[in-house]
Order: sequence, then C-alpha cells, then structure tokens
Amino acid sequence: MADHVGIHHLRAGGVSLVLDARGHGLPAVLHWGEDLGEVEASALEALALVSVAPGPPNTLDDVPTLSLLPEHARGWFGQPGLVGHRAGRTWSPRLDLSALDVGESDGVHRLSARAGDDEAALSARVELELGLSGLLRMRADVTNENSDEEYQLDALHLALPVPGRAEELLDLTGGHIRERSPQRQPFHVGSRVRDNRRGRTGTDATLVVVAGTGGFGFGTGEVWGLHVGWSGNHRTYAERLSTGEAVLGGGELLLPGEVRLPPGERYVSPWLYASYGRGLDEMAARFHSWLRARPEHPTHRKPRPVVLNTWEAVYFDHDLDRLRALADAAAEVGAERYVLDDGWFRHRRDDSAGLGDWYVDEDVYPKGLHPLVDHVRSRGLEFGLWVEPEMVNPDSDLARAHPEWLLATGHRLPLPSRRQQVLDLGNPEAYAYILERLDALLTEYAIGYLKWDHNRDLLDAGHGPGGEPGVHEQTLAVYRLIDELRSRHPDVEIESCSSGGGRVDLGILSRTDRIWASDCNDALERQKIQRWTGLLVPPEMVGSHVGPPHSHTTGRRHDLPFRAGTAFFGHLGIEWDISSATPEERAELARWVALHRRFRDLLHSGRVVRSDHPDPGLWVHGVVADDASEAVYALVSMQQRVWVQPGRIQLPGLDADATYQLDLLAPGGSAPAAEHDPPPWPSATPLELPGSVLRGVGVQVPNLYPEQLLLLHVVATDQPGDTHRGEEAR
Ligand code: DGJ
Repeated sequence: MADHVGIHHLRAGGVSLVLDARGHGLPAVLHWGEDLGEVEASALEALALVSVAPGPPNTLDDVPTLSLLPEHARGWFGQPGLVGHRAGRTWSPRLDLSALDVGESDGVHRLSARAGDDEAALSARVELELGLSGLLRMRADVTNENSDEEYQLDALHLALPVPGRAEELLDLTGGHIRERSPQRQPFHVGSRVRDNRRGRTGTDATLVVVAGTGGFGFGTGEVWGLHVGWSGNHRTYAERLSTGEAVLGGGELLLPGEVRLPPGERYVSPWLYASYGRGLDEMAARFHSWLRARPEHPTHRKPRPVVLNTWEAVYFDHDLDRLRALADAAAEVGAERYVLDDGWFRHRRDDSAGLGDWYVDEDVYPKGLHPLVDHVRSRGLEFGLWVEPEMVNPDSDLARAHPEWLLATGHRLPLPSRRQQVLDLGNPEAYAYILERLDALLTEYAIGYLKWDHNRDLLDAGHGPGGEPGVHEQTLAVYRLIDELRSRHPDVEIESCSSGGGRVDLGILSRTDRIWASDCNDALERQKIQRWTGLLVPPEMVGSHVGPPHSHTTGRRHDLPFRAGTAFFGHLGIEWDISSATPEERAELARWVALHRRFRDLLHSGRVVRSDHPDPGLWVHGVVADDASEAVYALVSMQQRVWVQPGRIQLPGLDADATYQLDLLAPGGSAPAAEHDPPPWPSATPLELPGSVLRGVGVQVPNLYPEQLLLLHVVATDQPGDTHRGEEAR
C-alpha cells in the first residue's frame, strides 16, 4: 500500500480541501471550502475526530463513509457512484484502496487514488486536482478486471459533500434564445437531478448546480458549485439525505447498455469541476482564472478580434457583391474578422438541404470562395467560415450516397429536427469523410476561424448497423475530430455554437475558443443570458454581437448604446446588415468598436463583478483589473424600477485604499436621445473618490429609462502609468 495513507490538506487560491485516506476505501472529504491556513498534522487528526458523526439511531452499526465515489456497500443510501452489473450480478462493489499518490507541481495539487474489489473483478481510480485559482477538478475510471465476462456500466458519478449550512440551491434552465435562466429553491431532503438526454450539452443545461448559504448572492454568502465538463448526455445533481448529509455530484448519463466493458477494458468519466466561493462572483472567478491559466487560452495568442458575422445580415442570400459590401462596411467600423455563416455550400439555398455536402456551391460561388476570401483579407480582416460537421440533411448527396452513415436505432430515421439528421461519427468511414472535407477547406482557403454549429438534439442516436446507443462514442468522436483538426491547423480558432448556446461546457471549451451564447441578439435578453453564462465562462470566450435595431428574435427595438453597451464586455461582434445602415449609424458603431478595442485587454483579463441590488430593475456588472487599478462598470436599467429612488449602488472589487477617478464612457451618445430624457449623470464628471467610498458607500443611481445603460470608467489616480491600459497604451 502506498506511503500516502493519511489525512491530506490541499491548499490553493484561497481554498482548502482536506481528504481523509486512512480508511479502507477511497478518500473521503473532510472539508472543501475556505482556506484553513497552515494546519499541523495533529490538528488535521483533530479535525477528523470532530467530524465524526454520531451514527443515527436504528441504522448501521458503523458510521458510513462517503468517499468521492459514493458506495452503497459502504453505507451510502444516496445515489451510488459506480453502478453496473454482470447480467444482474456484481452490482454492489466495495472498493478497497490499493494505491494513493499525492503531489504538487507548478502550484497544482494532484491526488490519484486506486481501489479495487477482487470479488467483483473491478478496479477504479479517482484523480483530483486543485488548481492555482482554487478550482477543483476530478474524474474517475473503472476497469473490468474479469478475464471472461463483460461488465455493463450504467453510471460512474463522483460527488462532493457540502456542509449543512448550504441550504439553498441555484441551477439554470432555458431553451433556444433564452439559455441559462436561473431558478432557486431550498435544498430540502431529496434529489435535485438535472439530467440531460439531448445528446449535446443542451440549451436548457444547468451549466452549474450551486448550493449555498441562505440568500447567497454575487458578493454574499458561501457557495459551492459543480459543473460536469461533458458535451453529451449528463447528470448534475444535488442530494440531501434524510440524515441531513448533502452532496453535489454528477457525470455522464449513459443510455441503456451504452458502455459494456469487455474484459480488460476501461471507461473514463468526464472531468467534474467544482468551485467554492464567498459569493457567486468568487466562485465564477475560480472557473475564469482556471480557463485563463491554460497556455491555449485564446487571449494568450492575440486580443479577441472584433467579428462581423453574416447570419442576421444576409441569412441564405449569398450574393458576392452584397457580401463584399458587408466586408467593406465591417472594415469601416473597425471589425477584424469576417465570418461567412450558413449558406455557402452545395444545395444550401435554405435550411432544408445540403448539410453534409461540404463543397463550395458552384452556382453561388463559381470561382470558389477565393474572390470573397481575397476581398475580405484585402480589407484587413481575417476570414472565418461556418460549418455544421455533425449534421446531414436527408436532402443531400451525402445522405443519398450513405444512408447508413446516419445515427439511427434501426430501420427508421429519428424524428427530424430542422429537417436534419446526425452523422454517425462513430462510423470510421463517416468520420474520415468529414475530417477530409474540413481539412480540405482549411487547406485550400486562408481560414482563421471556424464557427462550429450543431443544430439539433439527438434522438434515437443509434450507432452502426445494430443501432446500439451512440451518444457516448459520438461525443468522444467530435472531441477527436476537433483535436485532429487543431493539430493539423493550429492557428485556426473554433467557436462552439449549437442552436445558439446549446454546447457550453468545459469539455468543448477545452478544445475551442469561444461559445456562441445564444441566437438571441436582443440586448435585454442578452444581459440576462450573459450574466448567468458568466458563472462559468469568462467574457472573452462569450460571443456577444451588436444586432440590428429591431431584434429578429423578439421584435423589440433598442438603440445602439444599449445594444453595443451590452455586447461591449464579451468577445464583440456585429450581426447586422451594416452595409445598409446609415453613415451616422456606422460612425456611431465605429466609436463603440474603437472603445471596445481600447478597453478589451482589461475587459478580457479582469475579474467579473456583479452587484446584488434589491431593485430587480437595476443591474450593475463590471470588470475590475486584477490589481484593482482600473474598472469598467455597466449600470443597466432592465425594466421600470420598483423604487423611484433606488439609492446608491456599490461598485464592487475596488481597492479601499486607492483613490479613483470616475467618469462616464459614452461613445455615440448614451446621452439623452429625446428632449424630455433625463439629464446625464452625474452632472460633474470626472470625480475623484476613494475606493472605500465607491465600493462601500456607492454612488447614486442615475435616472435611466427602461432598457438604457451607462458605462462607468474608474481608474486609480495614485498608481503610476495607470490610464486606459490596453491597446492604446501599447
Ligand atoms: C444556428 C446558429 O446559432 C446561428 O447563429 C446560425 O449560425 C444558424 N444556426 C445557421 O444555420
């Protein structure tokens, strides 16, 4: 047995994780939460002693232990971690710890625990990492050690305990054009299970499940959040037993018989990511910092290029002159990347045909995409292309030639969705075809960016001639496909889009550069979608476009300052036919683009903060530089305010000891639009105020109409070289 048996205290980024590995089973969590500081070994023993629960009456003689992989056989009456059987036998394994390794490198603490049940002929491993930002991630695997019989795996889910004071739950739901809507409820006895069987992450996926102390908010309370980093079927749950013990858990959701392990074979679960925080902002910051610390994070290559996307500008009306005019307008307003959306390939004159036929349409583009690509690049823009590699229209040459390449359970096709079916990437020939097509396009054209779409839920996703469940394999295959393309074309960025924000998870984001948060470009809806998407994803990875004045998805009208001020914080784009906008509109848009470019280093590296104002009509969010020397805040009027005088709003994240200059950022006139509009605020800016006042007392809320916003710039005056960090300064 390994040397590391004992109690282990892992500390990083303000978080402590204490694991007890003294028992027979896999390690159990004694504490996951706030940093405990240096703790002597003897004090860890004492912590373990004061943590022993007095077994409840009329139950097991020994107090059950809850490990990271909860086991029924060790007395856990909640959801077990490892579920499976061999034709009805070997269904309740008891895993004995056989090896434990604990180490640290580059500030990342790692623990790997192996355990096995000889009788059941199963072995398992749990791997865990506590990263620099205090983000915890873990995964497990299980191996069938039986030399004759297969093992049917039904679930391999990990769980983390949360303390009793976590009495409230927050999770997210939604749908197309309303992704990531929050819902809250008390954390009562029972299971709150968020299952996803859509074969993709899902527009209604929860993103995170959060348990917290009563009334927790963005800057208040204690919260524990869990995310399952997987782009296929998955489960995220919060469970409280009748005894009071509570866990957050999850993993892949397997279809019936989907994973049957032959002798010697292994299944590896997705990574689960867990973040503790004093308030939701701190929890989110740990996810953001973890993503940003990866060498492949896109801002390490270059600042996020401002995008012009053609979708809401032209839809399927691909006309070379019109597209060139759009590129000219894009260059005029300061965009840096031009993305040709759906409609460029064979037979794709509308959304009923062509998916699968990944050849440039010879009728629409007789000379291929070269004239457009050349034109775009001659205007100084990078060229990006939309693809939907996993999808096939039955009305396509591909489906006619290879009907056997579609996911299906047998001799019937799954119910259609957007008149499309799904390519079986678990089929090596289908996989090779799509890899060759994408590779050929990336090789022939100077493409810097792929918008990778996926526009349907998977139903009846059977693989191969037998129609066995295929979502697991499909998910791994799309990961493989992206990884292979990235290794062949390392400079190409990829966006994860799926009917808008239907594939937002850390499985896909560990191999792509941004998400398309939603097909809804209505700025009011976007404020909500971005606020909650931000629980996991940092702004530079969230595509945010300035749509047309009249929203195509909601019919609402918004002025440019509200639209642009909403898109301003994310990976900025434009999705509006600006070739037909007025010169004044283009000039105003250009000022917004310039302002974004001036501040984007700050916006895309700083800490995201949100306020908890009691008036639901008033939202405040912002980004504060890591050293608190500078910040940009948005004061957003989401609806008519409940309070006529809502009082002062605090500006979170600033340094109490610094002095700041406070000013409005108002390109293109977020000043009053009509003569009876409220006066601008505050009447005398810039102002100088201590950080203690700005964050502790706050500033009076201006009069804003519903669906108006103001941007505030706050910069420390007592730190040298502080002004407008970002490109202007370089
Ligand atoms: C869904 C995406 O979310 C849209 O942005 C657009 O790319 C369409 N698909 C194209 O079909």
